[in-house]
Amino acid sequence: MADTPNKLAQTLAALGVTEPAQIPALFTEVRERFDSQVSRPMDLQAWEILRQSWLGRKSGVLTQITDNWLKPATQELKRGVGQELNQLRAHVESKSEERRKSIESGAEETASARERVDLSLPGVIRPIGSHHLIRQVFQQIEDIFFSIGFSVVEGPEIETPYYNFEALNIPEFHPVRDDMDTFYLDLPKGATQPLLLRTHTSPMQIRTMEKRQPPVRVIVPGKVYRRDNPDATHSFIFHQVEGLAVDTDITFCGFTGTIEYFVKQFFGPGVNTRFRPSYFPFTEPSVEFDVSCPFCGGSGTGAGGGTCSKCKGAGWIELFGAGMVDPAVYGFVNYDPKKVTGFAFGIGIDRLAMLKYGIDDIQVFFQNDARFLRQFP
Ligand code: PHE
Repeated sequence: MADTPNKLAQTLAALGVTEPAQIPALFTEVRERFDSQVSRPMDLQAWEILRQSWLGRKSGVLTQITDNWLKPATQELKRGVGQELNQLRAHVESKSEERRKSIESGAEETASARERVDLSLPGVIRPIGSHHLIRQVFQQIEDIFFSIGFSVVEGPEIETPYYNFEALNIPEFHPVRDDMDTFYLDLPKGATQPLLLRTHTSPMQIRTMEKRQPPVRVIVPGKVYRRDNPDATHSFIFHQVEGLAVDTDITFCGFTGTIEYFVKQFFGPGVNTRFRPSYFPFTEPSVEFDVSCPFCGGSGTGAGGGTCSKCKGAGWIELFGAGMVDPAVYGFVNYDPKKVTGFAFGIGIDRLAMLKYGIDDIQVFFQNDARFLRQFP
C-alpha cells in the first residue's frame, strides 16, 4: 500500500485507467487502507489526526481523489468514479464516527485490557485441602502398626448395647457404664432393641472376632461419643484407635513390647514407657500405659526451673488403657480360651495429638478454623 499516496497524486489517465471496469479495484485498495488504519489502537488525539488525513478539506485523501481522479476524469469514467467516491466517503465518515464513540466511551480500553495477556501475572492458585491433624495422626499410628503386621478395619458408629457393652463383659447395671455416659438414639415405636452411639471402638473387637479366626491383628480407627460437657479436655465426640491381637502364642511380654515399640515410634526414641495396674471388664490383667513426659524429658522440671506444666511435675503422662483380652470375652465369639491369648488397647487420638503437637484445647479439632488447620499442612 505504500504506493497509494503516489496514486492519489496522479490522474487516472496517468495511472492507465481508461475503462470504468478498472475503477472498483482502485477504490477497494483505498478502502482497505482506511479500514486497516481505523482499526488500530488509538486515543482521541490519534483519531483526530486520522480523521484529518482522510476527511480534511485541504489535503485529505477524499479531497485528493476529488481533485486528481474525479475532476480530470474523462466523461466515460466520471460517473463511475463519482459513485465510488460517494460510497467511500460514506464509509469513511460512518466508520470514523463509530470509532470516535467507542474511544470516548472507554469501551476500547476495557476491551483491549480484557484481551491482553499479562504474562507477568502470577498464575491462578487453587488451594487444595490437606488432611486434618487428627487424620494425620491416625495415619501415623496406622503406619506404625502396619509395619508390625496389623491391618485396619472400621466399624459402625451406631451400635447395639450388645456390642458396645454386653459382649465386652459389661453386663447391664455394671458400674463402668456410668463412666461412659451414653447417647441413645430415639427409635421409632416398635423397635426391637435400643441403639446407641458407640462410646469406644472396642465393639469392633467383638465384630472382628465374630468374623475371623485367629490369628487376628487389627487396629480400628474411628469416632466415638460420650455425653461429656465440652471444655479444654472434653468433647462429646472424639477419636480412638482400638488394637486387638489374638493368637496361640501371645504373651504379656509381647504385649508390653508392642506398646513400647509403638510409643517410641510415635514420640521418638527418647521417651520411656511404664504401665500401671488398671481395670477394664474386657481385659485381664488391665493396665494403663504412661509415657515419660516428652516436654521435660521425664524430669518433672520445666524450662524455667519450676514444675513442668505438662506433667505437673510427675515426669509421666498417662497415655491409654490396655490389657490382655479377658477369657470371658472369648466366650462371646466362640474362641477357645484354652487355645488362644491376646491383648487389646484403646488409644485416645485427640489426647495423643494434643500431647505430640503441644495443643492445649481439644475444641480446636472440631472448630474447622483454617488458621489452626493451616499450621498442620
Ligand atoms: N475401650 C476403653 C476405653 O475407651 C479402652 C480400652 C480398649 C481398654 C481396649 C483396654 C483395651 O476406655
